Amino acid sequence: MQSWLPLAPESASTLSWKVDAIYFYLSGVTLFFTLLISAVLIFFVLRYRRRSPYEIPRPVAGSHKLETLWTVIPFIIAMSIFGWSAKVYFEQFSPPQNAMEVYVVGKQWMWKIQHSTGQREINELHVPLGRKIKLIMTTEDVIHDFSVPAFRMKADVVPGRYTTQWFEATKTGTYHLFCAEYCGTNHSGMIGSVIVMESREFDNWLSGNAGNTTPAVAGQQLYQTLGCVSCHGANGEGGRGPTLAGLFGRKTQLTGGQTVIADEGYIRESILNPQAKLVEGFGPIMPTFQGQISEDQLVQLVAFIKSLQAVNPQQATPAASPAPRATTLPTPLPNPK
Ligand code: CUA
Repeated sequence: MQSWLPLAPESASTLSWKVDAIYFYLSGVTLFFTLLISAVLIFFVLRYRRRSPYEIPRPVAGSHKLETLWTVIPFIIAMSIFGWSAKVYFEQFSPPQNAMEVYVVGKQWMWKIQHSTGQREINELHVPLGRKIKLIMTTEDVIHDFSVPAFRMKADVVPGRYTTQWFEATKTGTYHLFCAEYCGTNHSGMIGSVIVMESREFDNWLSGNAGNTTPAVAGQQLYQTLGCVSCHGANGEGGRGPTLAGLFGRKTQLTGGQTVIADEGYIRESILNPQAKLVEGFGPIMPTFQGQISEDQLVQLVAFIKSLQAVNPQQATPAASPAPRATTLPTPLPNPK
C-alpha cells in the first residue's frame, strides 16, 4: 500500500502521478541546488582562505555576466514550476462533461453523499474504477474540506455555494477520506473512506442499494409541494416565472443587460435569493426559500431542474406522480437529515 515515492500516500488516480511528478521535480531542483551551493561554499572557504595576517584581498568589481546568469536561470526554473503546476491545476478544476455526478454535503461532523441514482451514503463513497467522477459539494454549516490523499485531491466545501472537483480512480481498494479544514471539536473524526470497485461490482452494489428515490425525482416532488409549479409550470415550461426546461447550462439574459450561464450555483442562488439575478422580462415576484429548505433539498431541486434539459423529451416530462396540488404557500417538509 505504498507509492513509489517513500513517505507519500498511495497513488490511485489519474491525477496522482501528475502531482507526484511536480513534487519530485521540486525536490530534485531543491536537492540539486542545495548540493551545488554547499559544494561551492566549501570549495571557496578552502581555496580562498586567508593565508597570512597581512594578506589584503583584491577589490571585487562585480560582473554583469554573472549577475545576468543567476537572475535568468532561477527565473526560468521558477516559471517552469509555475507553468507546469498551473496546467495540472486547471485540469483538476475543469470537470469533464461526461463525468458521473455525485452530490456531497458536509456537516459537523460527517460527509453525506448521494449518487445521482438516489443511493445515499454517510462517510463512505463507492465509485467504479476508471470512470470520471465529478463531486458537487456544499456544506450545511461551516467550511469543511473534502480531501483524498491517495487521489491527490482536496477542495473546500463552502457554505452558500457549490464547489466541484473530479477524479478518476486507477486502482481498486479502500482509501482514506479526510476533512482537511478545522471545523470544530470533532474535526479529526470527520473521516471516511472512498471505495473503488470494479465496474461490475459497482453495478451490483448500486442495484443492491436500489429503492432510493433519485435526487431528480425527489426534487420533482419538492417542486410540487413547494409550489414552484404554480409559476414555472408543471414541467418547467414557464408561466409567470421563467422557463426551467432546458435551462441548465444555457446562457440566460438578465434584466439590466447582463447574461449568466445557468449552472448549479446560479440555480441555487435563484432559489434562495430570487431577486439577485432577475431573468429579463420577469418581475421580482418570487419569494425566497432561504431557511425553508435544507442543503439536501436544494441539491434535489437542482438535480430536478438539471434533468429537465434532457435530450429525451420523455425525461423533460417525468411521469406525473400523485403529488399534492400546488399551493402558493410553501408547505413545511419533513427534513430528511
Ligand atoms: Cu469538517 Cu474539519
